[in-house]
Amino acid sequence: MQFDVAVLPGDGVGPEVTEEAVKVLKVVGQKFGHTFNLHYKLVGGAAIDETGSALPDDTLKVCRKSDAVLLGAVGGPKWDDPLADVRPEDGLLAIRKKLGLFANLRPVKVYPELVDSTNLKPEVIKGVDFVFVRELTGGLYFGRPKRRWQTTRGRRAVDSMSYSEQEIERIVRVGFELAQSRRKKLTSVDKANVLESSRLWRQVTMEVAPDYPDVELDHMLVDACTMRIIQNPRYFDVVVTENTFGDIVTDESSMLAGSMGMLPSASLAGVPRQDIKTLGMYEPIHGSAPRRAGLDMANPIATILSGAMMLRYSFCLAEEAQAIETAVEGVLKQVYRTYDIMAKGNKKVGTKEMGDLIAAGVGG
Ligand code: IPM
Ligand code: MG
Repeated sequence: MQFDVAVLPGDGVGPEVTEEAVKVLKVVGQKFGHTFNLHYKLVGGAAIDETGSALPDDTLKVCRKSDAVLLGAVGGPKWDDPLADVRPEDGLLAIRKKLGLFANLRPVKVYPELVDSTNLKPEVIKGVDFVFVRELTGGLYFGRPKRRWQTTRGRRAVDSMSYSEQEIERIVRVGFELAQSRRKKLTSVDKANVLESSRLWRQVTMEVAPDYPDVELDHMLVDACTMRIIQNPRYFDVVVTENTFGDIVTDESSMLAGSMGMLPSASLAGVPRQDIKTLGMYEPIHGSAPRRAGLDMANPIATILSGAMMLRYSFCLAEEAQAIETAVEGVLKQVYRTYDIMAKGNKKVGTKEMGDLIAAGVGG
């Protein structure tokens, strides 16, 4: 089969990790008889430098015409001026919004081989395997008003956390459906003891719940959730939450897996199904790590695993996706590690070599 993939490498280590994911996708193509037509486009700081916009029209057009988008990372100190009119992150937020990618899946899986690469006790993190469903196009990131102004007593700024019941319902349904395909447990995370938007979130979630009688639902306050993630992460199966809360708790949870460099993500325009193609953008949860850029150091596994999620959710190629995931496990078993997941007795490799090893694992 043929697929069109928009490839947006972005900034910092983005281009390096994206290249490794592309390398692995090409091997998948050869092995299983698919062609991935790659369309490279600018986004983020790289796009600002070239065009003045963090998301040029041409990039958006190509993303819309493609079957899926693969993205590296955006941002960096060069574009960090708080007074700048345009920021790299605007480009990322704009694609998510314009493509309607409201459902961000972020699986957190602890590989047995990496248990010693984390700061946490093995007995706490062994066997951790859960998924965040982060709402991605609403909430505090997009709510209006959102601005800064001058008052007689100094500067003031506002951001708004705002949700409609439709926005809540569609993301919560993604959570329930995903839970049905897993261990049938959904935790909805909010701050309903303080925030009105969270009270609506909780109410809508309870209203939707009877449609999924086989799923056990519980509600957790976001502050308690951050604690539970460290204290007993095996508690979770599927966790659904607001945009900003999801941003924060997924960075935290990456530490269970050993590194931000291990967590992939899928941002989808609908309920994830292995049998119906869904438009999606695939990116590692980590940022552009500017200090590591150009050094062949960054861990490409999160981006490579994002490629696997692309195969699964946008192309309905479950077997091919599994081939990548198995290859990643194989390489970890052979104790190859990038710097971020090194432990005693491991073999240290760079970005490219890690990509080569995984590609060889898929091809072999
Ligand atoms: C992420 C990132 C982005 C976000 C930034 C780069 C805008 O942190 O994907 O988690 O906050 O969503
Ligand atoms: Mg983040």
